[in-house]
Amino acid sequence: MAKKKIILDVDTGSDDAVAIISAVLSGEFDVLGIVCSFGNQPLKYTVPNTLQVMELLNSDIPVFAGFGVPIAQDLTPGRRMNTLVKEAGGVVDGKEVEVHEKSFSYLPPAKTKKAMEEHGVSWMLRTIKKSKEKVTVIPVGPLTNLATVLRMDPSVADNIEEIVCMGGGVYVHNITPLAEINFYNDPEAAKIVINSGVKVTIVTLDATHSSWFGYDDADKMEKIGNPAAVFAANMLRHRISSANKIGTRVVEKSALHDVLAVCAVIDPSVLTDVRHQKCDIDIGGNFADGALIVDNRPFAVPENPTYIAYKGDGEKLLNMLCSHLENF
Ligand code: BDR
Ligand code: CA
Repeated sequence: MAKKKIILDVDTGSDDAVAIISAVLSGEFDVLGIVCSFGNQPLKYTVPNTLQVMELLNSDIPVFAGFGVPIAQDLTPGRRMNTLVKEAGGVVDGKEVEVHEKSFSYLPPAKTKKAMEEHGVSWMLRTIKKSKEKVTVIPVGPLTNLATVLRMDPSVADNIEEIVCMGGGVYVHNITPLAEINFYNDPEAAKIVINSGVKVTIVTLDATHSSWFGYDDADKMEKIGNPAAVFAANMLRHRISSANKIGTRVVEKSALHDVLAVCAVIDPSVLTDVRHQKCDIDIGGNFADGALIVDNRPFAVPENPTYIAYKGDGEKLLNMLCSHLENF
């Protein structure tokens, strides 16, 4: 059977890096390309970080630079900072600690891999349009690139099999009391994608935090023993320890958010509570900016094929990831 054609849209990023590794090593996909956006770090870092991962994997999958800024959010002075309560970094004992390093200290800098010259958005549009089979898009950063593709040519939606994105939170939030960072980083883009009419599965923070990992899980990964597994283990350890140091989390756990989205495309049963619900994104520029609003009222009828994932199966996810890492 032909492999499922996918496009990854990433803001690499510690968990993005492991998600790319999982997707490539799984052997389940024909990965057409990887488009980068700003997000965990500015674009000038997320592109080289993605290339570092491609070099680790010795992969020739093309990497493209996409958008470095949100569609509209920054046009309103102070809009992003008004509601921001905690950044994913800080200075601890005189040293900068970041959940997502600017460049991965756990990998050598990319020497041979280079990003393609074409803009990621024009490439994505062209590639989806011309594909004989429908393409699945897995965005695990801000939705700026995909939203722009859908705006440039709405008919592209006909050739998208489904979108499985990591973003939003119903009861769990991170960047503000009401928003998750991927959606918060470009609320208008998230709104465009969710209302595009394409089937969208939203892998929320509720799902990723219900299937998070600890140091013992990192040890299991490391035991696999190859460079990809050691890197994934180090990423997980780094995520746990940096969040503890900065003070954004007390427990010694961390979600590999973006990996859950990738694995859900391979085996949807890794998401254990998925509900077809009416939802939208707040773009008001106030306290709820970027919030995923889910209409939980019993009479609410979903207007779009939007599926909200509330829970993940952590054991299944770890087994899937480890089996992918073993393929290195
Ligand atoms: C999401 O935001 C980023 O920090 C992660 O890479 C993940 O995609 C979690 O809120
Ligand atoms: Ca991400």
